[in-house]
Amino acid sequence: MIDSHAHLNDPDFDADLDQVITRAKAAGVTGIINIGYDLSSSRRAVELAEEYDWMYAVVGVHPHYAQDVTPETMAELEEIAKAPQVVAIGETGLDYYYDNSPREAQKRVFNQHLALAGKLGLPVVVHSRDATQDTFEIIKANPGIRYLMHCYSQSLESAKSYLDLGCYISFAGPVTFKNAHKLRQAAASVPLDRLLFETDCPYLAPEPLRGKRNEPAFVKYVAEKLAELHGVPVDELIAAVTANTKAFFRI
Ligand code: NI
Repeated sequence: MIDSHAHLNDPDFDADLDQVITRAKAAGVTGIINIGYDLSSSRRAVELAEEYDWMYAVVGVHPHYAQDVTPETMAELEEIAKAPQVVAIGETGLDYYYDNSPREAQKRVFNQHLALAGKLGLPVVVHSRDATQDTFEIIKANPGIRYLMHCYSQSLESAKSYLDLGCYISFAGPVTFKNAHKLRQAAASVPLDRLLFETDCPYLAPEPLRGKRNEPAFVKYVAEKLAELHGVPVDELIAAVTANTKAFFRI
């Protein structure tokens, strides 16, 4: 069972990383993919992957910080991304919910990340919030790259559109939330060979731990919910998702 999106590279985790890792292993977690949101967290993700051979790094600058990205930022990111522990570029994409950076800057930086991924032959982990149409159009305009829609929060219809483009789709804690009926319909519609799961920890702890600080051990609750939605035993769901995760990230 691989947590395909964690932020153990977040300073919040420094205090008790050993305990977090012990609990993850006890819960059956066999791999953790830590993802950056700026240059320093991307470097930290690589450091963790150097330290633990069952961890991997994804490096990028989150759309929240797009307005700060200069050509020098992208050059530095490219150097970081050349480390052998780096398995994808991200998280990148568009966030029109917070609009922390102007939308034009977000689109420019998203495209720059896709160019880097194409250059290095890496897949892309996409963050998309309240920006479905623009996200879809940018992905459609950049074929030949593997895409993972992380912490999916869009509609069933949009999931079909992303699947048609060849994207993989990952679900996090929100799929377990009590009122998330539409999200569960979307999750049930994603075929077992395109489905991933993640924690996005320390955020978005799943039920029954909603509101707590999230960590990789809790990914089992997401796995259990997805198994229930697909009507398959949880072991079967985990085996399918693990195979997808390895195929997507080539690990
Ligand atoms: Ni994240």
